[in-house]
Amino acid sequence: MGKADEVVKKADKHLITSMLTKMQPVVIAEAKGAVIKDVNGKEYIDCFAGISVVNVGHGQQEVVDAAIKQARKLVHACSYVYYIPPTIKLAEKLAEVTPSPLQKTFFGNSGAEAVECAIKLARKYTKKSELIALMCSFHGRTLGTLSITGQAGRRKYDMGPYVPGVAFTYPPYCYRCPFEQEYPSCDLLCARTVRDVIEYVTSKGVAAFIAEPVMGEGGIIPPPPEYFKIVKKILDEYNILFIADEVQSGFGRTGKLFAIEHYDVKPDIMTLAKGIADGFPISACTTRPDIGDSFEPGDHLSTFGGNPVSAAAALANIEVLLRDKLSEKAAEKGRYIMKRLNEMKEDHKIIGDVRGKGLMIGIELVRDRERKTPAKDETTKIRDLAREEGLLIGAGGAKGCTLRLQPPLVIEKEQIDKALSILERLIKKA
Ligand SMILES: Cc1ncc(COP(=O)(O)O)c(C=O)c1O
Repeated sequence: MGKADEVVKKADKHLITSMLTKMQPVVIAEAKGAVIKDVNGKEYIDCFAGISVVNVGHGQQEVVDAAIKQARKLVHACSYVYYIPPTIKLAEKLAEVTPSPLQKTFFGNSGAEAVECAIKLARKYTKKSELIALMCSFHGRTLGTLSITGQAGRRKYDMGPYVPGVAFTYPPYCYRCPFEQEYPSCDLLCARTVRDVIEYVTSKGVAAFIAEPVMGEGGIIPPPPEYFKIVKKILDEYNILFIADEVQSGFGRTGKLFAIEHYDVKPDIMTLAKGIADGFPISACTTRPDIGDSFEPGDHLSTFGGNPVSAAAALANIEVLLRDKLSEKAAEKGRYIMKRLNEMKEDHKIIGDVRGKGLMIGIELVRDRERKTPAKDETTKIRDLAREEGLLIGAGGAKGCTLRLQPPLVIEKEQIDKALSILERLIKKA
């Protein structure tokens, strides 16, 4: 029995594996930059970055050093009883780098926890309780965040009932436009419909509208350029807050530090996790001071939230991101990949759509371009075969037929070229 098989056998016995797919797992020994090595010594080009997490690369030296240095000083002290310098410094740094009105942060441990905090803050501040979310969205796996997740396919069945008072509106999913329109002649019906949802679906007690500036789990869906401006204008008319869920799209991933910057709109609350600390667990809910101050003592707490080791890692991570201009580089590399993928689209009919921003790229596969029948089996097959060929990519989307490329932003040109040639070969086969 090989080393990997031994680990898999133990995992089968002792891990609750609901999150694992049916593909043969990669038993990882170590990783550096954009390369993962398994326990048998096989190397993989990582084009998924632990679901968009290790943006500055696996094992980034300065991030790891900062964490070790902090771990030697202090690993934990509940951060809302004691003030810990790196945690406070990170809050200050987030106030500096996030869009201007966002100045105060609550720290948690996961993306879902950041979103939970955003929901509670929005309710407490507005004294209203309803929420509007998008179909095809994803905001986490806790009961609260699943309640605003617009995908039954994320296993919403069997575990409800969910939080009441959530209205879903149509997503800005141009390739499968819910109104069967074409952009831009559609006049952004998807955005304008938010007014109808407020007027006719809710009881007008809406605290917040939540959306991902680029939808990740829904299948990498970037809304059209005017989308958020139109929606925000409507929300302002009704005193509804805008929560930008940047858990997946933040920290340079889309070619800007935060994806909402592509849309020239300022959110009232922003949720952050994944790429914040290159894999160290920490999340943030950052907001305007007046909104943040609506929490009274005891309203919200997380024991591990704002952990100093993760905070030190996050500070180093942000420094590297900014110093090495990784957002700009992501934009450049993303353009190159999109160009190559669009060329492939010319040659391979199975590619229905290529879309994304920066290094958040989706390739939607269809059985026929006319009817856009989702090529779900082909998508998972390509993902599994890619793994065998030493390439790790994501597969998913609301229809289960989107290949996802979200590599560490430090991925090198040769690695991109190798990844694309493996991908093209497999797409051709499919
Ligand atoms: C946009 C978005 N929000 C929230 C979450 C939940 O994050 P976590 O898995 O860290 O709880 C995710 C995870 O994929 C996400 O993509």
